[in-house]
Amino acid sequence: MRAVVIGVYPGTFDPITNGHMDIITKAIAVVDVLIVAVAANITKSPMFSVDERVKMIEHDLQPLIKTLPSHKKIAAIALDGLLVDFVRNQKSNLIIRGLRAVSDFEYEFQLSAMNSKLAPDIQTIFLPATEKTQFIASSIVKEVCRLNGNVSGFVSPFVESKIVEYYKNRS
Ligand code: COA
Repeated sequence: MRAVVIGVYPGTFDPITNGHMDIITKAIAVVDVLIVAVAANITKSPMFSVDERVKMIEHDLQPLIKTLPSHKKIAAIALDGLLVDFVRNQKSNLIIRGLRAVSDFEYEFQLSAMNSKLAPDIQTIFLPATEKTQFIASSIVKEVCRLNGNVSGFVSPFVESKIVEYYKNRS
């Protein structure tokens, strides 16, 4: 019997966007189990707590999870500490990252090189972002929302409501 392939898709997901969902959809097509690892990443001063980000991902994943065959699983888990340690703890040796444009490449190459120095047994693979989601970034979505712009099409209605609520509570 073939071994179960477990992939880890790490990010800050502050919040999850349709761009992240695009990568998750592609990733689960090639692995059996996908762990979406939600990094605390305090250096980025996230808008949402790790728990809130995990909950938003869990919510947005529901429609996709319903379409999966029974042997495929996706879960969102908080990541605190080194990514390579987390990957090992999940019994995986595979990191999955999305690439949107050439500009992503340098940073991604540096990240994967560092991870490979720390853990030579763990590989990073890159999945190309679909053209229509390539311009999306969480920070841009938050900025548009803050200025009352329309962000439907970039994030789910649920995530949009959370960003709107965040700014309402601060005005
Ligand atoms: N579609 C749309 N947007 C995307 C995207 C895609 N496919 N892929 C990335 N993005 C956006 C994100 O929204 C985010 O936008 P923002 O900065 O405007 O908010 C940006 O691209 C990059 O974010 P993300 O993919 O979440 O990566 P990151 O740089 O925030 O985090 C980690 C990278 C989590 C993988 C890294 O910090 C990490 O591994 N942390 C754990 C600690 C560790 O091991 N550190 C050493 C690593 S060598």
